[in-house]
Amino acid sequence: MTITSGTILLVSAAPDVEELLTETGVTFVPVLFGGLPDHPDPVLLQLADRPRPAVVVLDGLSNPMISLRLIARLTAEDPLISVILVVDRDDLVLDAVRSGARDVVVRGSGPEELRAAIDRAFRSAQHLRPSIAEQQDIDEPTGFGSTNGRIVTVVSPKGGVGKTTVATNIAVGLAQRFPVRTVLVDLDIQFGDVASALDLDPEYFLPDTVQGQARRDPMALKTILTQHSTGLYVICAPDSPIEADTISGEDVAHLLQMLASEFMYVVVDTAPGLSEHTLAALDQTTDLILLSSMEVPGVRGLRKELDTLDQLDLLSTSRHVVINFAETHGLLGIADIEATIKAPVDLQLPRSKAASDSVNQGVPLLQSGVRDPLTKQLRVLVDRLLTNSDRDPLPGPSNSTVDSSSLRSFRRRPPGSDASPTIVLDSTDAGRTAKSRPRRAASRWSRTRKLVAK
Ligand SMILES: Nc1ncnc2c1ncn2[C@@H]1O[C@H](COP(=O)(O)OP(=O)(O)O)[C@@H](O)[C@H]1O
Ligand SMILES: [Mg+2]
Repeated sequence: MTITSGTILLVSAAPDVEELLTETGVTFVPVLFGGLPDHPDPVLLQLADRPRPAVVVLDGLSNPMISLRLIARLTAEDPLISVILVVDRDDLVLDAVRSGARDVVVRGSGPEELRAAIDRAFRSAQHLRPSIAEQQDIDEPTGFGSTNGRIVTVVSPKGGVGKTTVATNIAVGLAQRFPVRTVLVDLDIQFGDVASALDLDPEYFLPDTVQGQARRDPMALKTILTQHSTGLYVICAPDSPIEADTISGEDVAHLLQMLASEFMYVVVDTAPGLSEHTLAALDQTTDLILLSSMEVPGVRGLRKELDTLDQLDLLSTSRHVVINFAETHGLLGIADIEATIKAPVDLQLPRSKAASDSVNQGVPLLQSGVRDPLTKQLRVLVDRLLTNSDRDPLPGPSNSTVDSSSLRSFRRRPPGSDASPTIVLDSTDAGRTAKSRPRRAASRWSRTRKLVAK
């Protein structure tokens, strides 16, 4: 077992932790206290002119609550420090990771475990250092991974029109082509039901992905994603609506950027309307799915939403207007809808009993493969989201980077036209390299907020 060079600091008020670390055989700098401080200053002061430690082995025995606070403050002060917490209770593991600990070792498991954790911490520090340095340089986390994934966001002005049905199905459809390279984020933060639609029992939720180590380290983030049987990764909405308050628009933007640098497809389900979180997602979105039913209030809402997004310059991405619960004998026809929204309808999803059956069973239609007109149309939608280079994939690592030279968009058709949308190569996309997906400036984000606040 090799341990890379770098200072290991022991911060402890318990002799047992020092003993355990000594038994590992590593060289370390001890900073010993009578009682643990809850602030990093007294710890870092002890280092005087020495370089910051790469690894801190922290006593979680004396006063676990103080230790958790210290981890949060220490990693906020210096994200390059990997903290390993030594505990004597398993139930502290989750809290420690949420606070920003890199690893947790239970005292009884012996010095080998601690030594292995130190080794892992050094290995991940090698990965983390350039990422963090790059992030600080350019003030956004685009340097995390090599992928330049598409961000597909499903929005509608009203609830109950099928956003979650569409988002879960396209996520599963994409994951069937690109297992472990597709992630679904439930941004309906207060009342999201993706977990139930996919029959998942998540251990971690959205708030866990925007704080602590997961916010900085893509590897840590991946370990707290929920896995679905199709190979899809999922970030579920928090259990309690109150937790929505803890998540900001900036958190959402940061998370989606991180995910897009690690995954080929990031699918985002949203709450009805244009919340701060949805706007933050739209600011990052490459493929927008606008959904409405055929009812008059829904269609009027869709028109307002299109107008607002146009004003905010958030319609420039590839977009798909999708009418759900489509039927031929309703009050409004597709031509009426197109005239109202002054834009073409790209796809119609028929009303189907299979949809509610699948929600009740927690198995999306594209997973069960049930033969149904709705399933067929959902497949069409998945196909339209694929970039040309992804359309006939040879699954595997060779597909890991999206070829942006073949990004396609749908040309707007005149209202009333019922031909299927024309696929065109967008010349503005043709010259982009995989690394240069446009990211909107921070100034743009504040402008967006101001406009919506009006
Ligand atoms: N095309 C459809 N046919 C029949 N039922 C549908 C269809 N699309 C969605 N549903 C049902 O409508 C309800 C609301 O859908 P959901 O996807 O949760 O909407 P939203 O996320 O916009 O609130 C669910 O019970 C779902 O099963
Ligand atoms: Mg929903």
